[in-house]
Amino acid sequence: MSQTAPAPKKTRGLEGVTALDTELSFIDGQKGELLYRGYDIRDLAKNASFEETAYLLWKGDMPNQAQLDEVTADLQAARPVHSDLLDHLRHHTPKDANPMAAMRTALSMLAAYDDEADVMDADANYRKAVRITAKLPTLLAAFDRIRKGEEPLAPKQTGSTAFDFLYMLTGEEPGPAAEEIMDAALVLHAEHGLNASTFACRVIGATLSDMYSAVVGAMGALKGPLHGGANIEVMKTLIALDKSGETAQEFVDRKLEKKEKIMGIGHRVYKTLDPRAVILRGMLQGLSEEKGEMKWLEMSDTIRQTVKDTKGLDANVDFYSASVYYLLGIETDLYTPIFAISRMTGWTAHLLEQWEDNRLIRPRAEYVGPRDKTVAAVADRG
Ligand code: COA
Repeated sequence: MSQTAPAPKKTRGLEGVTALDTELSFIDGQKGELLYRGYDIRDLAKNASFEETAYLLWKGDMPNQAQLDEVTADLQAARPVHSDLLDHLRHHTPKDANPMAAMRTALSMLAAYDDEADVMDADANYRKAVRITAKLPTLLAAFDRIRKGEEPLAPKQTGSTAFDFLYMLTGEEPGPAAEEIMDAALVLHAEHGLNASTFACRVIGATLSDMYSAVVGAMGALKGPLHGGANIEVMKTLIALDKSGETAQEFVDRKLEKKEKIMGIGHRVYKTLDPRAVILRGMLQGLSEEKGEMKWLEMSDTIRQTVKDTKGLDANVDFYSASVYYLLGIETDLYTPIFAISRMTGWTAHLLEQWEDNRLIRPRAEYVGPRDKTVAAVADRG
């Protein structure tokens, strides 16, 4: 018999465990409140651009005009990627590769083209944060065009990240409405405490590995359907329901009966509606009215209300963002990498914070297995 008691259930998934201090964001899961460095997410989504948000996370407060001009210019300047990386996407990345896997590999390759990849001082790390954030949209747009048999487009290196990304993706300059929606979506996804990918990122960073290794690990974590991958699954669900004609009530009942998760619903920290979902729902409503296409909003609202009534769970950030991207005409499997474009700012800001006062992150596991075994000859094993 094992001499140790089973691990207490509360440690499963580190629920309720506070692992470190951060000044980057605050979440009140009961009230449904999210602050980035003291600023309410509702204020930021309305009044700050992605570039301002990135600066806020990296540097500690909102930029003044000169600082904003500088960070914007630095991001624009860093958007192009080395032709070897485009060749890799052209010739060595299968067209049907999972875009998150393609981006994870491309990010890892980026390190080999960065002279400062292994330089561990604060200024170099800030410059890398800017470069990586600037290049990921270029890589993602290039991957999407190449897989459709089109040539990747060089960034215009003007305007916002949202503007240039949508341009590189579609070949057309986005209108102000599309740019504004993409920009707000990037603000909303930028930072969220010690979520799974950010934790993975800080654990890798705390070994004093390098920024690229840490964000590649974070990409791997974000890809999972219980984390960033949920937005893709939400859209797949909505499309399947639209085709099958199954009602929201039937769908929810079926999923709950089989004890299956409904994607975009539930959260480890929020016990009420995720404040980002409120803003994204508003964006979806505006976009749906503009396009004259209300069905995704209506289906989403019905599913949300049904799960809320049946199980007391509410929507998270991925629930409405899926339909927003869909109505912007973006391929479903790009939703999670778009999340990564935004969260890159949070990941890298956490690394800058970690390295200001680094200590290896190395928790213990409670051993609950046997201790009294001896090795038998192979022939004698069952
Ligand atoms: N659909 C149906 N039931 C859900 C659910 C969902 N999306 N999320 C949680 N639940 C239920 C669980 O089945 C469980 O019910 P039970 O107590 O009757 O067994 C209870 O709520 C607790 O769930 P648990 O999985 O332990 O919570 P967690 O804190 O580990 O999970 C998530 C958090 C986010 C992983 C979970 O809510 C989930 O898988 N959601 C769907 C994926 C998603 O949208 N991820 C994006 C997060 S931003």
